[in-house]
Amino acid sequence: MTNSTALHISNLVCRFGSTPVVDDVNLAIAPGEHVAIVGSNGSGKTTLLRAILGLHPIYAGQIVVDHVHAQSAADWRQRQQRIAWMPQRQATGQFPLLVHELLASSRNPTVAHDIASQLEVGMLADRPLHALSGGQLQRVFLARALGSIAGGAGLLLADEPTAALDFGGQAAVATVIAAQQVTVLVVTHDRTMASHCGRVIEMANGRAREVTS
Ligand SMILES: Nc1ncnc2c1ncn2[C@@H]1O[C@H](COP(=O)(O)OP(=O)(O)O)[C@@H](O)[C@H]1O
Ligand SMILES: [Mg+2]
Repeated sequence: MTNSTALHISNLVCRFGSTPVVDDVNLAIAPGEHVAIVGSNGSGKTTLLRAILGLHPIYAGQIVVDHVHAQSAADWRQRQQRIAWMPQRQATGQFPLLVHELLASSRNPTVAHDIASQLEVGMLADRPLHALSGGQLQRVFLARALGSIAGGAGLLLADEPTAALDFGGQAAVATVIAAQQVTVLVVTHDRTMASHCGRVIEMANGRAREVTS
């Protein structure tokens, strides 16, 4: 568990235009914890994950990863190296990359390719990402993320990683993610996935609260 990342979010506000979509979120996650984020569509879950990665601007508050409050471009690059990222497929999103190019962006491309083969998406290496089914794309993102963890990433951020999978695929991916010896923050509507996590956070209208089970 030595490589796991600590995450401290305090008074975080992110906006689209003048609308706060993440609204005063506080969250402390210890190294190695697995935390699920649940909540209705539009509640700010994706924006929160993107802000941790530096892909959405922080309006107020701060996000500290491994005691580093990223400020310079170099800080943000270093932070992204610590994170394995499974994005949510956006309905409008286009991915011009080819599968093998995405796998090459993993911290350990060899492991990423091996896992892609195990997940039966290895033969799609020369396809553009937008020509994959939702389930194939999620397997490719999982392969990249597991390669990054093998290469030293200490935090997995996964945005609805099983949403496009059939039941068997959902259970298999939930098991694989639960087995990771790193810090995990996973957005999910999948009860099995949430039940593998030690904590559940519910977001509503940009606010986050701990759900006690
Ligand atoms: N590109 C955008 N432009 C303007 N508003 C957006 C954009 N993307 C998301 N939003 C709004 O931000 C809010 C939070 O979105 P998001 O973080 O994607 O929610 P979730 O992942 O919980 O479904 C929603 O109200 C959504 O409509
Ligand atoms: Mg989302």
